[in-house]
Amino acid sequence: MSKKESSILIAGGGSTYTPALVVMLLESLERLPLRKLKLYDNDEERQKTVAEACKIIIKERAPGVEFSYTTDPEEAFTDVDIVMAQLRVGKYALRELDEKIPFKHGVVGQETCGPGGIAYGLRSLGPIIELVDYMEKYSPNAWMLNYSNPAAIVAEGTRRFRPTSRIINICDMPVCLEDIMARVIGLKDRKDFETSYFGLNHFGWWTKIVNHEGMDLMPKISEHVKRQGYTENTQKGQHKEESWLETMRAAKELHEIEPEFLPNTYLKYYLMADSTVEHANKEYTRANEIIDGREKDVFSECRRITENGTAQDTSFKSNEHASFITDLACALTFNTKERMILITENRGAIANFAYDAMVELPCIVGKDGYEPISMGEIPTFEKGLMEQQIASEKLAVDAWEQGSYLKLWQALAMNKTVPSIAVAKEILDDLIVANKEFWPELK
Ligand code: NAD
Ligand code: G6P
Ligand code: MN
Repeated sequence: MSKKESSILIAGGGSTYTPALVVMLLESLERLPLRKLKLYDNDEERQKTVAEACKIIIKERAPGVEFSYTTDPEEAFTDVDIVMAQLRVGKYALRELDEKIPFKHGVVGQETCGPGGIAYGLRSLGPIIELVDYMEKYSPNAWMLNYSNPAAIVAEGTRRFRPTSRIINICDMPVCLEDIMARVIGLKDRKDFETSYFGLNHFGWWTKIVNHEGMDLMPKISEHVKRQGYTENTQKGQHKEESWLETMRAAKELHEIEPEFLPNTYLKYYLMADSTVEHANKEYTRANEIIDGREKDVFSECRRITENGTAQDTSFKSNEHASFITDLACALTFNTKERMILITENRGAIANFAYDAMVELPCIVGKDGYEPISMGEIPTFEKGLMEQQIASEKLAVDAWEQGSYLKLWQALAMNKTVPSIAVAKEILDDLIVANKEFWPELK
């Protein structure tokens, strides 16, 4: 019997991540055969630039794959097996404000952490739920693999408002860091070992890393992190700009306060908030770097391909981000039972943590979805931090659901990045103005 051929929809087709994902999918046709690949976005112009380049890449590398792009939800979501979602609601203009508004008040300004992450969460919830509804209406048996951030708040929202939906919320940071860990101890990549991990999205720790013979690799990796964080002496990997290297270096200090485990770099924004604010360029943030860097590069490469009518010499190449979501699509389609770190409802997997919290854990993935692996009890330090953070995330979703100013003020005040209720209120009032177009009205 020949292998199943899938129809994949990329929602957020105009994303800067789309070309690398398309290249990855074409490189993976043997393990994940495709019959159709579609793009969907609500910004016609932006998507067209990316899509016209993808059309050429596909024509040259896999002419048998039927390709199309649209802004029409029915056309996009009909006859689809897998939706790969990567929306940025409010685009880079709002990311810039998510970063700059908290900085103005002396607080961490970040895409997914602290007040900026909460602001982005309130923008993302409605459009992601809308995508889920389109999928359920037009292709009810499909799976949605969702990268759209902030994944923690989006996951709490989809758990709460669409509890039976076939959405899996994911993050590429654990796999990107695992690839770095593998390289720094001389292995090829993350598939050379197996890991145990627990936490929330952008808020977690590795507890165990063993090779396939069962040998403990933590001591060797830990030695490296104690010396130079997750920086490495190679240009491999996605996160290589100076602002990312600074974050990679922070892992050294994050490891000092918890030497038993290895930290996710995003803990920096909560545990090193003061030095993050102190060292940040508050007028030129990560959003500005991307607008002048990745966004410009991706769009000019797309235009170049379209003008030349060929992508033979393109600089687009697959990356960890694309390989992880492709692995997940394979696991669901072909029941591979791969072990993957996903965002899941806890349901007792962390024994001493809320049953209904959306946590990030290794899961076994097969055709019926995923099952989290039990991590037992977690220590007081991590548990305390996670309880505060999950409360902040849940309050943000309460605020969106109820249109409640008070709940959103509490969400900000609860967040470890925010020093007082007064500062929380000042930031909130600025965020309300900036997000008028996207947020529910708050009373
Ligand atoms: P981008 O702005 O380049 O692309 C996002 C696209 O989404 C845009 O083309 C935009 O028009 C579209 N969009 C926005 N709202 C929409 C809606 N309501 N309906 C349809 N399309 C809509 O952003 P990017 O930098 O490429 O990132 C894309 C997303 O992927 C972001 O949410 C980012 O945070 C996320 N991301 C997540 C991870 C992770 O670990 N989970 C990793 C990388 C990127
Ligand atoms: C990591 C995280 C993502 C985040 C991205 C931001 O990959 O896992 O959730 O969106 O970094 O990277 P950027 O280059 O956009 O700052
Ligand atoms: Mn992430």
